[in-house]
Amino acid sequence: MKLVVLKENRSGEKRVAITPTVAKSLIAKGFELMVEAGAGEASAFQDKNYTDAGATVVSDRNALFHSGDVFVQINPFSSDAIKSMKQGSVTLSLMYHRTNESLVKELADAGVSSFSMDAIPRISRAQSMDVLSSQSNLAGYKAVTLGANEMTKIFPLMMTAAGTITPSKVLIFGIGVAGLQAIATAKRLGAVVEATDVRPETKEQAESLGAKFITVDSGGTKSEGGYATEVTPEYLAKQKEAVNKSLFAADLVITTALVMGRKAPILITEEQVKQMKYGSVIVDMAVEQGGNCECSELDKIVVKHGVKIIGTSNLPSTLATNASELYAKNVFNLLMHLVEKDNFKWDMEEEITKGTLIVHQGKILS
Ligand code: NAI
Repeated sequence: MKLVVLKENRSGEKRVAITPTVAKSLIAKGFELMVEAGAGEASAFQDKNYTDAGATVVSDRNALFHSGDVFVQINPFSSDAIKSMKQGSVTLSLMYHRTNESLVKELADAGVSSFSMDAIPRISRAQSMDVLSSQSNLAGYKAVTLGANEMTKIFPLMMTAAGTITPSKVLIFGIGVAGLQAIATAKRLGAVVEATDVRPETKEQAESLGAKFITVDSGGTKSEGGYATEVTPEYLAKQKEAVNKSLFAADLVITTALVMGRKAPILITEEQVKQMKYGSVIVDMAVEQGGNCECSELDKIVVKHGVKIIGTSNLPSTLATNASELYAKNVFNLLMHLVEKDNFKWDMEEEITKGTLIVHQGKILS
């Protein structure tokens, strides 16, 4: 099978879907690898690294579409790319299919089969394929360093001859994959960390990393398939009561709260921002889903009432080398699961295939 790695089309994207190391592993498993020239450049993988790994680097995009069987990308494929694919091709990329009907239709019209990397079921045996986890983990780390860079304070307690510097206070909303990494990173840098989540089971996880858990006296919510369900306005009101003291004392606030398939919940209103410490910083990791803070703006750093609010999107792309390495390993693991003896198994009853295969030979499945 000829597997094609295309240059990403999303503006500002620095990652690449397959790294030279994973290209080599795929070739060892019988794939033929074709990489668009310059595809890995922004994540520090040069064309020669791919050729050294045994892949063919191709400058002519049309030639790639003409001969490729499987197309791998991180971001959803562009309409032009989809139209250029041969009928019967297979695609692997993020699709966000529940909110991206037109993309799904275009793929179906092109007669291709498409796996959505963001639809990997949250089950133990699929963990090694889970790109949402691998990318969120890095994003959680980056949110802390980004925030630290915008702060006018250091994180740790520092006793010096000129006086003692007290540690910074960090508050984290949402203790999922990104939130847990943010707690761990802020703790490693020496901050005093507090965190809250609607899922009560996260208390123990936060505490095991050294954070203080803020309990909202309202019972929380159940998760469905690993995702939090939407909470009531009453819960959000109680959450405000519970967190306000910590919010108004925090030097850095990181928000990561998402609800699958819905707009992100507003957890910090402008009224609350007004009462925050002058000079404090918010990193809103949910900004692409509408934001957890009422004042955040996509891809901007804004200052409101003396608080700096960072709305940088696509944080994994800012750590493009590591993010590409993990994404590529996720793709490799999924392909190893789906392919047998140089062919896709198309085992439609199997849970991972069923969850991720959105379009099959032109037919929309979910
Ligand atoms: P996510 O990115 O969907 O959401 C982030 C966090 O925000 C979640 O912890 C959620 O409970 C929280 N949240 C939602 N609404 C909130 C609100 N109003 N206030 C405060 N917090 C709110 O979640 P993520 O990081 O993808 O993971 C969720 C869970 O799923 C984790 O326990 C993770 O370990 C599990 N998981 C399991 C996988 C597997 O077994 N293969 C793969 C990925 C995640």
